[in-house]
Amino acid sequence: MGAEIDGESSEKLIVNLSPDLRRDLRIRAAELGLNLSDATASALSAWYARPDSAAVEVKGAKSWGTYLPAGGVARFAAECQQRDVTKVQGISQAISLWLQTNPAVPAGDRLVSQPVKRILIALQKGGVGKTFLAAGLAQALAEMGLRVLVVDYDPQGHLTRRLGQELIPMDSKASLLDHMLGVATRHIRRSLAVLPQSRFGERLHLLPACQDAFLFDVALSRMRAGREESLARALEPIEGDYDVIILDGPPSLGLSMDIAMHYVHRRPGELADRSGILMPVWPDLPSFQAYDLFDSQRRELMTMARVQVDELGFVVNAYDARKGASVQARHDEWGERSAPGVLAVFTDLKEQREAQDRAIPLLEYDPHCDLSKGLRTLAKEMAA
Ligand SMILES: Nc1ncnc2c1ncn2[C@@H]1O[C@H](COP(=O)(O)OP(=O)(O)OP(=O)(O)O)[C@@H](O)[C@H]1O
Ligand SMILES: [Mg+2]
Repeated sequence: MGAEIDGESSEKLIVNLSPDLRRDLRIRAAELGLNLSDATASALSAWYARPDSAAVEVKGAKSWGTYLPAGGVARFAAECQQRDVTKVQGISQAISLWLQTNPAVPAGDRLVSQPVKRILIALQKGGVGKTFLAAGLAQALAEMGLRVLVVDYDPQGHLTRRLGQELIPMDSKASLLDHMLGVATRHIRRSLAVLPQSRFGERLHLLPACQDAFLFDVALSRMRAGREESLARALEPIEGDYDVIILDGPPSLGLSMDIAMHYVHRRPGELADRSGILMPVWPDLPSFQAYDLFDSQRRELMTMARVQVDELGFVVNAYDARKGASVQARHDEWGERSAPGVLAVFTDLKEQREAQDRAIPLLEYDPHCDLSKGLRTLAKEMAA
C-alpha cells in the first residue's frame, strides 16, 4: 500500500465507513485517475475548508483504512474533536462532499490509460473459497460487459471443472507452464476456452489448468533467467484482449505463488490498489495465522524484487453469524487488518454447492441468489 512505497511520508488512517461510500469513493477515484489515498486526502482538505458541512447517514459503517500524508491522521482526529463529530461522521462528510464536488467523468473522456487490471485471488489455506471467488467475480465482471480472462493457476483444476470445461492435456505443449517455460508450440490464444452462456456475451474466457502444473515449482526453479517475469511473458500476447485478468491461486506458498504475486505488482504509471491480491478468509484463527505467513511472503517479495504488490482487501467467506461471538469478533478484526479491509462478506449458501455439482457457472445456475447478487456488488467495486 501507499505507506510502503512512499517511505515514511504516509501513515494509515483506520476509521469506520459505510460500504456504499467506500465503493463510490473507489469507483470515482478510479474514474478520475486518482489513487484512493490521494482522493481521501483531497476530500479531507476540502472538508477542513468547510466547517459548515452537513451531517450524513453513517448507518452500517465498517472498519476501513487508507493512507494519508504524515500528520494527516492527527489532523483529522483534532478536526473531528473541534467540530464535536465522531470520526465516522467526519470521514463520511468529507467523502460525501468530495463525491458531490468531483462528478463522474464519461468513460470516453478519461485521461489515464492503464494496463490490464490483474487480480490474484490467493491465500495458501485450503478451501477458503479462492476458486468460488475467482469464478464468481469473473462471471460478474463479464456480465457487466467487461472482457475477462480467468486463469486456472491451480494444478487441482477445480476452476476449470466447475466452469464445465476440460483440462489441457499433459504433453500437449499448450499449457500455461509450457508458455511460461517458452516451450509451447502454438499461440496461447488457442489454449483458451470461451464460456458459452449468453449472459457472458463471449466475454468470459478461461485458461484451463493442466496437470503439469504439479511440476510448476520444479520446472520453474530450473529456469536460468527471467523466472519472475515468466507469467507476464506468457500472458503478454493476449493481455490487450482483456479489461481484467483474474488468477485462481493454489493453496500453496511455493515459487508459483511468488511468480503470481509478481505478475500483479503495480506497473509503472499504474494507479495504486488497482491490480493486486484479493484474499478470501474465514472468520477463524487459522485464517489469521495463514494470512500472517502469506503477508510476510508478499513483503519479502516486494523487498527482494523491488516491486509494490498491493493488497486489494479481504473477502470474508462462508460467514455464519449464528456461530457465535468469537466469529463476529474475528470478522470485525479482518476489517482492521489491511487497507481497504473487508470488501465483501459471503454467507454459506447451498446454491454454490449445487452449481458446483452440476458444473454450471453460479451466475447462470441461479442469477438471483444472494451470492450472485453479492458477487455483482463486489464486481462493481473491483472494476474501478
Ligand atoms: N459462500 C459459499 N457458500 C457455499 N459453499 C461455498 C462457499 N464458498 C465456498 N464454498 C464451497 O466450499 C468448498 C471450498 O471452496 P473453494 O474450492 O472455492 O476453496 P479454495 O480456497 O479454492 O480451495 P483450494 O484451497 O482447494 O483451492 C467448495 O466446495 C465450494 O463450493
Ligand atoms: Mg481452489
